Amino acid sequence: MTAEPPVLAVPEAKKERYQSLRAKFREHFHDDPAFYARAPGRVNLIGEHIDYCGYSVLPMAIEQDIVMAVLPDNSGAISLVNSDHQYDEFVGDVKTIQITKDEPHWYKYVLCGIQGVKEQFCSSETKGFKALVEGTIPRSAGLSSSSALVCCAALAMLKANGWTMTKELLSEVCAKCERYIGTEGGGMDQAISFTAKAGKAKLIDFNPLRTTDVQLPLNAAFVVCNSLAEMNKAATPHFNIRVVECRIAAQILAQSQDDIKWREIKRLGELQLRLGVSLDEMLELVSSKLHIEPYSKEEVCKILDVSPEELAETSLSANTRNVENFYLHQRASHVYGEAKRVLQFKVICDDQPADALEKLGELMNASHASCRDLYECSHPDLDILVETCRKHGAVGSRMTGAGWGGCTVSLVRTESTVPLLAGVRDDYYKPNPAKMAKAKEALFATIPAGGAAYYVFE
Ligand code: GLA
Repeated sequence: MTAEPPVLAVPEAKKERYQSLRAKFREHFHDDPAFYARAPGRVNLIGEHIDYCGYSVLPMAIEQDIVMAVLPDNSGAISLVNSDHQYDEFVGDVKTIQITKDEPHWYKYVLCGIQGVKEQFCSSETKGFKALVEGTIPRSAGLSSSSALVCCAALAMLKANGWTMTKELLSEVCAKCERYIGTEGGGMDQAISFTAKAGKAKLIDFNPLRTTDVQLPLNAAFVVCNSLAEMNKAATPHFNIRVVECRIAAQILAQSQDDIKWREIKRLGELQLRLGVSLDEMLELVSSKLHIEPYSKEEVCKILDVSPEELAETSLSANTRNVENFYLHQRASHVYGEAKRVLQFKVICDDQPADALEKLGELMNASHASCRDLYECSHPDLDILVETCRKHGAVGSRMTGAGWGGCTVSLVRTESTVPLLAGVRDDYYKPNPAKMAKAKEALFATIPAGGAAYYVFE
């Protein structure tokens, strides 16, 4: 079922925050905002680095979010101010937006959302807006603060112009326009931000985008721990290198098949569809056709029978042109294995056997091992944190989000939440005063929160 993002009354518990946003808006723009747009961050429970390969993922939204107080501007001007003054102000015009792939400044994510929506409507009288932006999602922590910013900006742009779009279309538009920044993400973050439902996790399928509610076991709680190792995926090539390794793995596997033209294949998921076989059979294919040693660029070119320039066209992205070694066996094994774990996770949530928690925990642990060893997107601090969480009662623990820093997510029995939080605080944060100073925001229990919406004072 498709629907547009709802317009809701500011809930009682949030009134103080929204009033304070209104006061800051007035102070800066000497006017009142017309509405508020809100988009939440997310924690991915399982299914890491597989959305851009075409596979389903299983995240839930968190309470932390981006909120914008917005006033439409008929002149087409875009004026952005962040309630956190360490971020620059931005002033521009909706007609002349340019998003460069150099420094990933915060406002460029806002511009991505604006541009994405603008492209859907092609109007000659597009309005801009003034916005006061406030975020509570820890940045560079794998909780999707940047995508929430894109989604929130898209909402602001839509309503400022009196336009509407379904949540599904918004998810797809925002996934696409976030790539203007240069990162080739999949669509998980945007889809969960728009379609989340309080109390439910979501299975998200792609091409076409579909979401299914997932009822987590009632005695399951989730704890998020920020390692405080920051990783901005747009500022380094790590993320795009993985995207490219997966693409080349899919193309080389395709090349090994008589009836498939490798140039038609961009994703490991597409290849499975074309072959019409199971994930286990794909894992066997990886083992039999790809070697464990890294592939040099020269070898890749030789197998695909292309020049390095052609390879850049068919398979690489701007910031991966100079990569020389590709770990294809490892990356493809992770993707097919992780895709399988997502489906198993969903079946356990549907069936809710007596040992559901242990089974879900095992899948999360296996996912972490695969991210660490095969996909190499973990971080030593994340590996320490998952061990610490398990020691203090987590039934499963894994890194979440893009990785190379950021957060872990742990599955814990509801009654063990408080001892787990205390144990992790003492072991991981307390010995380091800089970490301890941030422990309050870095370490929290979370339940599935609701999706993006507009808010107004009644
Ligand atoms: C980032 C991307 C997502 C997804 C995750 C890794 O958050 O935006 O699309 O690929 O990394 O699972």
